[in-house]
Amino acid sequence: MAVNARQKVILRTMGIPVWAAHRDIPGQKKDNESTEQLFEPETERPITPEIRREASQELEQKTEQKTEQKTEQNRALRADQKIERAPADSWSLLQDQVNGCTNCELNLSRTNPVFGVGNKQASLMIVGEAPGHDEDLKAEPFVGEAGHVLDQMLFSLGLSRYDVYIANIIKCHPPNNRKPLASEIEACSDYLLRQINLVKPRLILTVGAVSTKKLLHSRELISELRGKVFTHQESSIPLVPTYHPAYLLRKPTEKRTVWRDLLLVKKMMAES
Ligand code: URA
Repeated sequence: MAVNARQKVILRTMGIPVWAAHRDIPGQKKDNESTEQLFEPETERPITPEIRREASQELEQKTEQKTEQKTEQNRALRADQKIERAPADSWSLLQDQVNGCTNCELNLSRTNPVFGVGNKQASLMIVGEAPGHDEDLKAEPFVGEAGHVLDQMLFSLGLSRYDVYIANIIKCHPPNNRKPLASEIEACSDYLLRQINLVKPRLILTVGAVSTKKLLHSRELISELRGKVFTHQESSIPLVPTYHPAYLLRKPTEKRTVWRDLLLVKKMMAES
């Protein structure tokens, strides 16, 4: 490859000797040259101060580019290491994020976000819909009338609310007890998934249509879904839906149906 005068200066500056075959050096004797002569520059035109200046500028530019590249590579490497070193998801991190959450408008009307309660290593996780008025005030799920029914349901399984982990699909109370909007459910969905991943229960019991449909990505009626065993796709954990405790307050005759669903839960817990 032909090397021009400026490039030769650069190579020399970098400590790389430039030499040419004898036959290529114009006017060079073929015999009896010293070794020095083998390294004589191949000068098509004399190396002027101008050429030296250009060469040194080019060299400076190349060095700068190399330094920038290196810095960028180091930055990427540090970022990778940071990701590897980042602590795994933790309860305190999640709790802080929920406490400061502004993902949807409900943060403007809530008194407290309602994170979840119970045994963080529970085998059974209960997933409800949304905090009501009482829950909003006490920052704890299922503490109102529906909560009292849920306690009875758990009692029938030989459990208390502190043996299981209880959370809702959304963490903030929708004003006037209205149903959560699809956008609110979506904005909150990551928190529940992270709770499920942290608890790693052996079974999820969804109570009511909202949590059941959301976790099963289903549009079917709760009356069709309840009492059957599904798998929660994101965590691969078995999931059984039943009616919401608040529904039992309105329709106590369905307690029998829920009782049957709970027997299924009991059986599954005993077998797993
Ligand atoms: N209903 C729910 O779904 N969750 C609560 O926390 C209270 C009532």
